[in-house]
Amino acid sequence: MDSEAQRIRTLGILGAGKLGTVLARLAASAGYRVLVATSKDPALIAPAMRAIGAEAASIDTAIEEADAVILALPLGRHRELPVEMLRDVLVIDAMNYWWAADGIRHDLSDPRISTSELVQSFLTGSRVVKALSHMGYQDLEDETRPAGASGRKAIAIAGDDAADLEAASVLVDDLGFDPVIAGPLAAGIMLEPGAEAFGADINAAQLREMLEHFPASQRGIIVARARGETRN
Ligand SMILES: NC(=O)c1ccc[n+]([C@@H]2O[C@H](COP(=O)([O-])OP(=O)(O)OC[C@H]3O[C@@H](n4cnc5c(N)ncnc54)[C@H](OP(=O)(O)O)[C@@H]3O)[C@@H](O)[C@H]2O)c1
Repeated sequence: MDSEAQRIRTLGILGAGKLGTVLARLAASAGYRVLVATSKDPALIAPAMRAIGAEAASIDTAIEEADAVILALPLGRHRELPVEMLRDVLVIDAMNYWWAADGIRHDLSDPRISTSELVQSFLTGSRVVKALSHMGYQDLEDETRPAGASGRKAIAIAGDDAADLEAASVLVDDLGFDPVIAGPLAAGIMLEPGAEAFGADINAAQLREMLEHFPASQRGIIVARARGETRN
């Protein structure tokens, strides 16, 4: 696949908290133009974004001018996202259901469906890929390494479209991690809280092995039962 054709050059990030700020810093260091937005006035984050080589923007600008948009806001607030503006946009969903931030939400913790599928069903016209969601922000900050460096860690990606997976893989690689394809968007459930890969700060071979082991894991068994899948 021609990765130049897929390359993201301007990255929008919705959310300027712990995750959004680290991703903005890594992307800016990797040479991306980075536009970061929150639900509030961009002026509030402008100095902090300037200091890390990114730009504060309105949500409209961060979407309109970007080649791809990372969702780094609380999952419980995803219904605030502008569905029409995100139509046809590559949306990289880094969100997780986290009860401490989102409250108790049974709709966001149903083991039959991954949260990225929920996001995709809300953002009907967007191309949603799950990535950059399973590693804690401090590890993301500390573990970035150039391609080929020994000890490089891996980030899993789930999505339904080969070209979008490729674009997300190039981004993950540029941010300093080995991309590992977990499978279609539904496979994103293997990266969510409760799964072994959630919080994983390991290399690509270890992450692949962990994902292969998912069906036999405690969470994998819960998911399979909820989905009415039987194992031989
Ligand atoms: N923290 C981590 O280590 C980590 C790692 C992987 C994934 N994640 C996931 O990433 C997401 C963000 O986590 P976090 O720890 O960075 O949270 P956080 O520190 O609370 O930051 C959340 C950010 O989202 C913004 N926001 C809220 N509603 C928004 C909206 N409608 N549009 C645009 N921006 C909005 C907030 O700003 P305003 O309220 O001012 O709009 C804030 O800047 C969560 O889904 C989390 O599960 C976190």
